[in-house]
Amino acid sequence: MSASPVASSQTSLRVVCLPGDGIGPEVMAAAQRVLRELAPDLELEERLFGAAAIRATGTSLPEETLAACRSADAVLKAPIGDPEFDAADVRPEQGMLQLRAELDVYANLRPASLGGVDLLIVRELVGGLYFGARGVREDGTAFDTCEYHPSQVERVARRAFELARTRRRRLTSVDKANVLETSRLWRRVVGEVAREYPDVAVDDMLVDNAAMQLASDPAQFDVIVTENMFGDILSDLAAAMTGGLGLAPSASLSDDGPGIFEPVHGSAPDIAGRGVANPAAMLRSTALMLEHAFGRLEEARALEVAVDVGLQKRPTPDLGGNATTAELADAVVEALS
Ligand code: NAD
Ligand code: IPM
Ligand code: MN
Repeated sequence: MSASPVASSQTSLRVVCLPGDGIGPEVMAAAQRVLRELAPDLELEERLFGAAAIRATGTSLPEETLAACRSADAVLKAPIGDPEFDAADVRPEQGMLQLRAELDVYANLRPASLGGVDLLIVRELVGGLYFGARGVREDGTAFDTCEYHPSQVERVARRAFELARTRRRRLTSVDKANVLETSRLWRRVVGEVAREYPDVAVDDMLVDNAAMQLASDPAQFDVIVTENMFGDILSDLAAAMTGGLGLAPSASLSDDGPGIFEPVHGSAPDIAGRGVANPAAMLRSTALMLEHAFGRLEEARALEVAVDVGLQKRPTPDLGGNATTAELADAVVEALS
């Protein structure tokens, strides 16, 4: 291969960065800083998304942003959301769901570990209540519907079993099969897929019990697979059990196209603009990107270790320390070199 500029720009890896809202730009700056140090060959592009995009263009996910994400090698996303739009017709969260659906990132990996706890929630991300028919009837009744096709359950279950094989080979499938039709489908399909993975120990757990078990004995879990809404709620709980939302990363994966790598937490309007947000969740999401989008395991592990070192040295206020976002990022960069 020639080393002409054209050839190299064709082969370079493109990361579309979505800085988002609230603390989003603050934690994104930390991620970009670390990436320039650790993986200077990656091309970082920024695009408008969320409330920032609504203000500039009238829509949360502008065409141009979507096109850039589609053709990227990975999407690195900071949180979106702004109280100003909570009751508006056009809301930042709509663009986020649209982006997930457009990229078909059905498997949302949300790892949580601390001490004896090391679990991975695999949350179905493009189905269920978030995407069913909804509306408000003339009499004022509001409704959201939860639908799952067997194939939607099957593909995320298979992904979860595969991941369990790379870990402690235990899978807990969480549902509400004592009440919901979609959950009975979920349980049946997971059971069918389980036959292909006799080496993985699988059990079913009702979601209310799962919340209690997560709060009282989180060390019992290895991989948890669950539908969209249950996964949203349980993953904030798992984060709380393992150090808080400031630490919790995620990777949203499809079968082929680009993945989305973003923290579990939101735009934290209560602390935005003060430069004190914990960037660890964003940095760990960046490590997941290096691992899952680019197969760069060594860099991913190095970043994870550097984040741990940084957190020890310069903890942010959410962890009882007094470091700023930038100071923790400095400590991570220092630990990398
Ligand atoms: P949140 O996750 O933004 O905040 C919950 C609490 O955790 C707050 O007290 C906040 O200060 C704290 N927190 C969160 N991240 C932190 C960090 N990195 N460092 C230190 N403290 C942190 O949840 P919320 O307040 O319910 O939601 C705020 C907005 O974020 C809403 O508009 C919501 O829709 C949006 N949201 C977006 C995403 C996303 O883009 N992925 C995820 C969740 C919520
Ligand atoms: C998350 C967030 C989103 C979700 C919101 C902002 C739409 O809470 O990523 O966990 O519910 O999926
Ligand atoms: Mn959530």
